[in-house]
Amino acid sequence: MSFAAVDVIRTKRDGGALTDDQIDWVIDAYTNGRVAEEQMSALAMAIFLNGMTDAEIARWTSAMIDSGDRMDLSALTRPTVDKHSTGGVGDKITLPLAPLVAACGAAVPQLSGRGLGHTGGTLDKLEAIPGWRASLSTEEYLAQLRNVGAVVCAAGDRLAPADKKLYALRDVTSTVESIPLIASSIMSKKLAEGAGGLVLDVKVGSGAFMKELPTARRLAETMVRLGAAHDVPTVAVLSDMSTPLGRTAGHSLEVAESLEVLSGGGPADVVELTLVLAREMLGLAGLSDVDPADALKDGRAMDVWRRMISAQGGDPDAELPVAPEKHVVAAGDFGVVTRMDAYAVGVAAWRLGAGRARKEDPVSTSAGVIMHRKPGDRVSAGDPIFELHTENAELIDGALAALEGAVDIGATYEPEPLVHDRIT
Ligand code: URA
Repeated sequence: MSFAAVDVIRTKRDGGALTDDQIDWVIDAYTNGRVAEEQMSALAMAIFLNGMTDAEIARWTSAMIDSGDRMDLSALTRPTVDKHSTGGVGDKITLPLAPLVAACGAAVPQLSGRGLGHTGGTLDKLEAIPGWRASLSTEEYLAQLRNVGAVVCAAGDRLAPADKKLYALRDVTSTVESIPLIASSIMSKKLAEGAGGLVLDVKVGSGAFMKELPTARRLAETMVRLGAAHDVPTVAVLSDMSTPLGRTAGHSLEVAESLEVLSGGGPADVVELTLVLAREMLGLAGLSDVDPADALKDGRAMDVWRRMISAQGGDPDAELPVAPEKHVVAAGDFGVVTRMDAYAVGVAAWRLGAGRARKEDPVSTSAGVIMHRKPGDRVSAGDPIFELHTENAELIDGALAALEGAVDIGATYEPEPLVHDRIT
């Protein structure tokens, strides 16, 4: 069935709902170059402004899945389950989580992306490990899932190609922050990945896409419904991103911190969120009787990590890159840290070289920020709060400007919960 793009745009512009046939047609025609970029821009803006019904979002998601291939994981003997985070600062959770869940008996098939803007991408973090490669053939991917139980690698060109094109367009037309478009974008990729269950870590706070709890909740509910509509049991956790996770932001710094967690230590918030998400994943995989805390403490998760890294050419014993230039930011007052702004720390790490402005830009693996103090910690004037790491000392001033006003020091601190809610 064929339509005129202008009619599809007009329907949405005037607040109507698109039919299944219109959606199937427009996604296919756009993917194959028969709907022009300017027409899709207009449609994305109409969706941004007028929203979509649940039925439209479900069909839009299916059409984006069908624009490429769906992975078939049915030959695996273990239950498959994956996690997706909507992105935050210092969010290294996938690194300890994937091997941990595999150590508990599930298989974790994670096709991942790179960071854009102030949030870091998992592949960029893993590329800090000497030798590690993100690209795997389908055969290598399936073999690693069978033999190791966990794989984190780059999504190929056939995973929801419509989303690849549309996400790039949304990025330059100010149409990213739309619940129907974000939900369908994330879920088309995750559902095409073929996992039997999905846990979503929906971040809320200054360092996240969704700054407020009600919008984060609406996004989570929309994605959970999409999972159910595709027969993939999906649970969402709403977790705090007003403060960075852990004490590091930046690729090699975050790998080092993840290794602490896999060694049974590490920052309490990273450990807590890793275990919360692991328990959700194991529940979906039918393994809720397994306690992931044991596998973290007794080294089983670390064993899987080492095999997972080696299987992709990485040397788990190699020294991680260390930035040559460092700069310490000290506290100007004494008291207790009451606030540390996640967005400011993310921008600082980005400006130090850890982030990219365009998707083809290289990143510095050693650049980033160490947080010597976090909310709840006591400080005296002159104590180090941040340690900035970079390959280029000229980038330090920009990072300092981003951190201006990022920390409050006061008399008392009321901790916020790390997990705000759980949506099923
Ligand atoms: N991540 C995605 O993959 N898509 C979006 O639209 C937003 C975040």
